[in-house]
Amino acid sequence: MKLLRTVDDLKKWRRKEAGSTVGFVPTMGALHEGHRCLIEASCAENSVTLVSIYVNQAQFNDQRDCENYPTPLKEDLRICEEEGVDAVFLPKKEDLYPDQYCYRVEEQEESLMLEGESRPGHFTGVLTVVMKLLLLAKADKAYFGEKDWQQFKLVNGMVKAFFLDTVIVPVPTVRESNGLAMSSRNERLSEAGRILAPELYRVISTAIDCDMARHELRALGFQVEYVDEKDGRRLAAAQVDGVRLIDNVAVGV
Ligand code: PAJ
Repeated sequence: MKLLRTVDDLKKWRRKEAGSTVGFVPTMGALHEGHRCLIEASCAENSVTLVSIYVNQAQFNDQRDCENYPTPLKEDLRICEEEGVDAVFLPKKEDLYPDQYCYRVEEQEESLMLEGESRPGHFTGVLTVVMKLLLLAKADKAYFGEKDWQQFKLVNGMVKAFFLDTVIVPVPTVRESNGLAMSSRNERLSEAGRILAPELYRVISTAIDCDMARHELRALGFQVEYVDEKDGRRLAAAQVDGVRLIDNVAVGV
């Protein structure tokens, strides 16, 4: 497995793989079963798989959240190796942002709603880094989790708007056996939080409408940020013991 530490390393690797079909999985590390599923889909559908690990400060509206983001690099590399990843891109901020984040990709509709409304600037940070990564990776396919539904939709929209050749492949949300969507943030849950957290999925899957879901979640002890429906999806964000969880399910199917 190749470790690509600079933009130049990645460009050289990509030139060498000119004849391969390349699958790309962008991540912020702290890899879990959800990331593994994306990597497995990429390995199954492409001759080589590239994973990026980069905690993108630009997409954190809360800088403390960014500073506390787990970075178990050794364990992440072990997982990549185990999954048969061919190369891991580990850029530094100075390398990826020679412009100091002066140039940005902005979307004007979806990015301002729900998750975008709760986290101002978040999706501009996501779209900007994903654009940089997609331009560098020049992948045939890139894999995104449905857990971050709006992120998947916005990235897909950006790729179409800017005529990028990479196909964006959605991967269904991977859950623990109790229904809780896997997330790097789950590590921060207290013992009580771990018991309550799976209720988020249960409630948004079973409540008759969004009002009922909000009511039920509050009664259980969640601090609800939003529960809303859009384009056949019910999306929610809520905090348990100060840990922010998001989830979404298909509705009316
Ligand atoms: P990160 O949170 O590390 O997630 C990387 C990818 O894994 C995303 O596409 C995310 O949707 C997917 N993922 C996370 N948990 C999942 C789960 N339980 N089931 C299925 N897929 C899951 O999302 C980001 O990083 C960043 O915003 C990034 C796209 C890398 C840009 O910085």
